[in-house]
Amino acid sequence: MPDLNINFAGIKAPNPFWLASAPPTNSGYQIMKAFDAGWGGAVWKTLGVPVINVSSRYGSINYRDTRMAGFNNIELITDRPLADNLKEIEEVKKYFPDHAVIASLMVETKAEWHQIIKDVENAGVDGIELNFGCPHGMCERGMGSAVGQEPAVLQTIVEWVMEVAKVPVITKLTPNISHIVDPGLAATRGGSNAISLVNTFKSIVGIDLDSFAPYPIVDGKGTNGGYCGPAIKPIALDMVKELAQHPEIQHVPISGIGGIETWRDAVEFILLGAGSVQVCTAAMHYGFGIVREMKAGLEQFMTDKGFETIYDFKGKALPNVTEWKNLNLMHKVVAKIDPAKCVGCDLCYIACDDGAHQAIRISKLNGNRIPEIIDENCVGCNLCALVCPVEECITMEKRDDGTKFKSWEELTIENNVPTSFDDELAGGKHHFVPTVQDALKFRK
Ligand SMILES: Cc1cc2nc3c(=O)[nH]c(=O)nc-3n(C[C@H](O)[C@H](O)[C@H](O)COP(=O)(O)O)c2cc1C
Ligand code: SF4
Ligand code: SF4
Repeated sequence: MPDLNINFAGIKAPNPFWLASAPPTNSGYQIMKAFDAGWGGAVWKTLGVPVINVSSRYGSINYRDTRMAGFNNIELITDRPLADNLKEIEEVKKYFPDHAVIASLMVETKAEWHQIIKDVENAGVDGIELNFGCPHGMCERGMGSAVGQEPAVLQTIVEWVMEVAKVPVITKLTPNISHIVDPGLAATRGGSNAISLVNTFKSIVGIDLDSFAPYPIVDGKGTNGGYCGPAIKPIALDMVKELAQHPEIQHVPISGIGGIETWRDAVEFILLGAGSVQVCTAAMHYGFGIVREMKAGLEQFMTDKGFETIYDFKGKALPNVTEWKNLNLMHKVVAKIDPAKCVGCDLCYIACDDGAHQAIRISKLNGNRIPEIIDENCVGCNLCALVCPVEECITMEKRDDGTKFKSWEELTIENNVPTSFDDELAGGKHHFVPTVQDALKFRK
């Protein structure tokens, strides 16, 4: 049986699945219930200064049959009294001493930071997370993403925290910045023991076409909120990778957050270097029970691959994530259709003809609707395989013999890059393109 235990920057937990700081970690009741269901850790809903919340608070993107494919909130940090939270932290730690309880914090002045750190440490937390991410409300008061977007300010606050913190400190970053490495470096240079990312993306999920107000609507008006859920996972993965590959940051433990719903999502974050993962939207959507499948799936994956601990595969994908200039320009794939699986929907033909390279034909002779790939026109872009509704009906077939390797970087060093569009080396020179007039042959 694989061992799911982790030691994340000195914070020990029975597994890498943590609840992110958010409504599911608003109270001791919820966190006890979550631990009982199998979660390994929880980052308490951010504690800090007194706030007043609005009603309503959430909006979402329903994509086709999927509800909450993207989720949006305009909620602030906790509105519960600090003393109640501290008492409940103490109680949770009594029942679950081996689970990770991390206090998310957001205050303003140095004195406030020092005081609240003392308070949560006295209550028995295993770690502290600094919330420099909230993209609404708190940033208007000079906290949250207002700090996360200013690396120099972020570094100063991390330094204040490190002056007094006795438990490990995780700095949570906002993704609302063009270069995630900047705050990542600031956190590292400030001495943070770990980094977590991402918090939510500044967003408007939609506009009501009757009241002309953005969702969620608060008495006829709205504001930008924080976007999260499955829709943000690809951007979060990329940001985790950026930090995990950076020479000055790569030694700092990373807690991966953003759209994690299944064990597969979690494994992807770990493969890109995360040492724990945090979940918010999925727990709000489906409840704490989802962790059972996450743990079982992770265990099965590790058994299948022969991994005994999380550390056997943490960061294993990183060597395969490179810059474009290092990719092999000699590698060639071409689409292949399995006629036995094809249902004749024509989606691949339409996608390739209108959106790609006119490399699919359908000879409609004798009622035939099975498309054919025109090999010499196919650039191997994948679009047809992606739109095809039948699994494995279109696959990409390798056409090079695997013996040649030439990257743009190498061509540049050899001074062998195309210098004009007529150059024989130019990429698109021999690609088939129909005549302009061919476009009109479809007129009815
Ligand atoms: C309603 C709501 C409230 C949140 N409140 C906080 C918070 O108080 N502190 C914090 O650091 N992050 C907060 N977050 C952000 C989450 O912790 C998490 O970073 C984000 O939702 C991305 O994860 P997900 O895609 O699993 O939801 C909140 C998110 C939501 C949806
Ligand atoms: S891989 Fe791209 S170019 Fe080739 S047939 Fe499919 S859509 Fe067309
Ligand atoms: S999209 Fe797939 S199923 Fe539809 S016609 Fe093309 S190959 Fe056949």
